[in-house]
Amino acid sequence: MLSHLLHMQGIDSVVIESRTREQIESTIRAGVLEQGTMDLLHEVGLGQRMAAEGALHTGFDLSFNGGRHRIDLKALTGHSITVYAQHEVIKDLVGARVSANAQLEFGVSDTSLHGLDTESPSIRYVKNGEVREIVCDFVVGCDGSQGISRSAIPESVRMDYQRLYPFGWFGILVEAPPSSDELIYARHERGFALISTRSPNVQRMYFQCDPKDSVENWSDDRIWSELHARVDQADGWKVTEGKIFQKNIVGMRSFVSSVMQHGRLYLAGDAAHIVPPTGAKGINLAINDVLILAEGFKQFYREGKNESLDRYSETALKRIWRAEHFSWWMTSMLHQFDDASPFQQQMQLSELAYVTASRAAATALAENYVGKAAVH
Ligand code: DHB
Repeated sequence: MLSHLLHMQGIDSVVIESRTREQIESTIRAGVLEQGTMDLLHEVGLGQRMAAEGALHTGFDLSFNGGRHRIDLKALTGHSITVYAQHEVIKDLVGARVSANAQLEFGVSDTSLHGLDTESPSIRYVKNGEVREIVCDFVVGCDGSQGISRSAIPESVRMDYQRLYPFGWFGILVEAPPSSDELIYARHERGFALISTRSPNVQRMYFQCDPKDSVENWSDDRIWSELHARVDQADGWKVTEGKIFQKNIVGMRSFVSSVMQHGRLYLAGDAAHIVPPTGAKGINLAINDVLILAEGFKQFYREGKNESLDRYSETALKRIWRAEHFSWWMTSMLHQFDDASPFQQQMQLSELAYVTASRAAATALAENYVGKAAVH
């Protein structure tokens, strides 16, 4: 996205990616795009497939204590979300860059960063057994939580904030029609569950599990009985079963690296911050980071000013901390913690009753969910 935004400003960039194009275009990730992300894709000319193949959702359900309660995002905030898989967004972005003859280097290894505190930093990497070097004005590390960029910021100027959660999400892809028109986030004594979708024929579902568990321990029958136990309703509504064709387990953590820049290096997305998946903020935060960076680079090349770039961490972190709080709050309200006392269980239930009964509380949830919560 950053490369595409820069191209629209006449600024050249080279994208260096350790994986292959096929790998990044097929890795299963989350699927919820906030209103701002949807609007941006349209503004930059990449919204057609999302509008045609994604599903616009104007609300979602919270399920707890044997009942379901709708959060009407559109009525509460005027905004909606689209369920459109992240790897489909990646296909659209890569397609646009390839057709503009951009330089995209896939499948590189042994990447290293040099001269970040000079005005001409460089990146060295190996492609097809050959060492290459790119000398540039700026390096943007969009290389995820395991990448090399973050560690290039000296620990003396960096502060890491982290929270680990004692559970993970078991995710499945299922060949079946949707169980429900909208997403269902369920709190249950057996643990959290989420019913999402991908297309009229493919559904995405998750349930809280032990992060150290293995997919081999979960037969299809065991998965369905767990989902039925956590999400089915007393009125006879049931999760629709189908052929499970993908299973995976992801761990959950909250993480922020502050600052997100050093010399001519800037971090964006998971390289700088991680959210637990509850609330689906990951891709939206990454998009927000690169929007801020694109503005900063525009100011630098058009006006010769560093002001926006110098304030990048400060600007981006406001939105990031809001999403960190929201994702932590949703996670804490909906999951079972092994050590939770009966008192803590009642706190979760009372909070859920409040956010579904009070328009003010529901609005607070909804504006965070659609990505329109105000920050100073
Ligand atoms: C999906 C993932 C999420 O983390 C979420 O909160 C909602 C939906 C998904 O993959 O569809």
